[in-house]
Amino acid sequence: MQTKKRNGFSGSIGFVLAAAGSAVGVGNIWRFPYLAAKDGGGLFLLVYLGLVLTFGFTMLATDIAIGRRTGKNAWQAFASIRPSWGFLGKITFLVPVLIMTYYTVIGGWILKYTTVYLTGKHQAAAQDSYFTSFITSRVSPIVFMLLFLAMTAMVVYVGVEKGIEKFSRVVMPCLLVLMIGIAIYSLTLRYTDPAGNERTGIQGLAVYLIPDFKGLTLSRFLSILLDAMSQLFFSLSVSMGIMITYGSYVKKDVNLNRAIVQIESFDTGVALLAGMMIVPAVYVFTGTQGMQSGPSLMFVSLPKMFSSMGSVGIVIGIAFFTMILFAALTSSVSIMETLVATCMSIFDASRRKVSLIIAAISALCAAVICMGYNVLYFNITLPNGQSGQLLDVIDYISNSVMMPAIALLTSIFIGWVIKPEWIETEMEIGAERFTRKKLYRVMIQYVVPAILLLLFMQAAGILRVFSV
Ligand code: PHE
Repeated sequence: MQTKKRNGFSGSIGFVLAAAGSAVGVGNIWRFPYLAAKDGGGLFLLVYLGLVLTFGFTMLATDIAIGRRTGKNAWQAFASIRPSWGFLGKITFLVPVLIMTYYTVIGGWILKYTTVYLTGKHQAAAQDSYFTSFITSRVSPIVFMLLFLAMTAMVVYVGVEKGIEKFSRVVMPCLLVLMIGIAIYSLTLRYTDPAGNERTGIQGLAVYLIPDFKGLTLSRFLSILLDAMSQLFFSLSVSMGIMITYGSYVKKDVNLNRAIVQIESFDTGVALLAGMMIVPAVYVFTGTQGMQSGPSLMFVSLPKMFSSMGSVGIVIGIAFFTMILFAALTSSVSIMETLVATCMSIFDASRRKVSLIIAAISALCAAVICMGYNVLYFNITLPNGQSGQLLDVIDYISNSVMMPAIALLTSIFIGWVIKPEWIETEMEIGAERFTRKKLYRVMIQYVVPAILLLLFMQAAGILRVFSV
């Protein structure tokens, strides 16, 4: 029996900022710029923008409309529409369960670096071995993870409107201001390397924005497409139940068409800005080869760059890590909220009790992930050819295997089982009409399932034709 009052967002802006808070995260700031640098600059940007307007829109509309129309979390939403498809809700719920185990670990690393810069130890952080010796140490990563988890849990504990919405309303604008500031600073940089070559931020911007079609083959194009596609899903937080949860908190008078455009724009705008601040800066200090550094970019290359900026580097370092901390916190809040809200309804228990229990379980799981770099260390090769530890394995299962599989099943479910009208009706409530209805229909029935099948087979290692 539903006796407790259901939580909800106060209106459209609160919802948009909270959803953008979930979408804008480590993925936008760290993964997007490095993919753009790797995949031909402007070429990647063009592909990505095209995908946001088609795939991104389709999956975001699907999740949010399912949430609002059923008023339930993924776990129960699918079952309430078609009992035989209840399994999809349960699989969807598993994604935030898996992500929760490691997202707070990364959040802890970010918090550690924020404190390093705040205490003026930026030279130490620029040492080659600093990051590795930090994550392999036994106690420190766990302590920072616990602090980050405590901050996340506090917001979720307070509730949807007073916690999540209020927090996002303060943090998201601050994040934007910090990013714009750093991006402008990045463009003014210039540096002459020991060989006497001078490089400027504006040249770096050109590397980032101008499409590089050199040596473009079909297989390279497809691999760029797949990179952009998996980035998009992760970045928009779709196909993992999170946007279904947030959608269930939206009032019927909110125009979902407009809200979706705003969420897409916020998420993509932040990703583009992140590229504008990181790519020129890395280019200025290390040239084009510095941008190949991939995942270690954030914790290794950037600290080196901040230290070569002299004392300004401390200020930029503080601004940079505070900004990522904000981005990571609002994302982590959305993951935990999905777990808490789902368990509240499954066990018919109070928010406070469930929040505390989930925080405790998450702490234990995240501590195990931290140990993946010392006591439980192993190194295996993933199906995509990259090597990884415990954290990477969980990340790979949740993002590269489960998310495309869920998106594929969801598109079949909506496109062919219950039919797109089910979503379209919901999109028309609170709006004059569903603005991209025709596009939605073609995408959900044909394009999304076809492309996702390819993506899934590629990620699961079944299809290797696209690997270059
Ligand atoms: N969308 C977030 C990002 O781009 C990541 C995220 C993943 C957030 C899963 C919530 C859940 O970093």
